[in-house]
Amino acid sequence: MTIDQIVEPSPERLGERGFLAGTAALVTGGARRIGRALCLALAQQGATVVVHYLTSEAAATATVLELEAFGGKAFKVKCDLAQPDMTVQLVAQATTAAGQPLDILVNNASVFGPGSPLTTTLKEWDLNQAVNLRAPFLLSQAFAGQVPSGITGNIINLNDFRATKTGSDHFAYTISKVGLHGLTRSLALALAPGIRVNELALGAVLAPEEAPTDYEHTLREQIPSRKFPSLDEVSSAMVFLLGNDGVTGQTVFVDGGRHLT
Ligand SMILES: NC(=O)c1ccc[n+]([C@@H]2O[C@H](COP(=O)([O-])OP(=O)(O)OC[C@H]3O[C@@H](n4cnc5c(N)ncnc54)[C@H](OP(=O)(O)O)[C@@H]3O)[C@@H](O)[C@H]2O)c1
Repeated sequence: MTIDQIVEPSPERLGERGFLAGTAALVTGGARRIGRALCLALAQQGATVVVHYLTSEAAATATVLELEAFGGKAFKVKCDLAQPDMTVQLVAQATTAAGQPLDILVNNASVFGPGSPLTTTLKEWDLNQAVNLRAPFLLSQAFAGQVPSGITGNIINLNDFRATKTGSDHFAYTISKVGLHGLTRSLALALAPGIRVNELALGAVLAPEEAPTDYEHTLREQIPSRKFPSLDEVSSAMVFLLGNDGVTGQTVFVDGGRHLT
């Protein structure tokens, strides 16, 4: 084995503010919650951001305005990721909006429902696999087809600690995230060296909107760090993965250690 080049650490490599200037990113489900935080982190680093949404049009507009405040460009694009015919068009729509090819795809949109293996309906199963697994596959395929040669593309998948620690709860969701874990590793190999593919495996960061009021208090007891990771901690893990050319096929757990329990 030979080492052809020793690259000294530089501000760009270390993720200093602005290291994504000139790039364009698509974030699915980017209007609200974790997706919005990821959009803000990308814009803060100088990326043009295309905010994908389905039902949250007003929130997507508000997020675009927030992103523009960083001095860059931002756009919103609507698509139902449960519909494969629409999903395969999304990357092209995003490049048209951005006026340039995409360098970064963040597969964040997701559905999350209850249900055990015995109670999950066919409809719930199909929706979870369609939005959480099939859509990232179709988007990754379209994304890979448009990354210009000579550019390193990046795919970041938003996963869950359940991908490697399956229980029987949230069954259809969990199995879709197990599939997403496999997709991350398989695509990292298939798309190298031009595109790096990594995932963030989150524990509870934000309570589901319909969660009971004691949700956070009860769940904290199950987390070794005894706290929910913050949106900043999630975003900075994404920025680390985007800034580190030596990492692909990797799962970064941002879950306070919950995958170890
Ligand atoms: N929240 C947590 O603590 C947590 C924990 C572990 C893992 N994660 C993972 O982190 C990611 C973000 O979590 P989150 O809680 O912020 O997500 P979320 O609020 O449950 O969903 C994000 C977005 O997904 C979009 N979406 C849902 N169905 C769609 C469809 N058919 N077509 C297009 N978009 C659709 C929705 O967009 P619209 O609002 O525009 O309809 C929604 O705002 C997810 O992948 C999740 O699995 C989150």
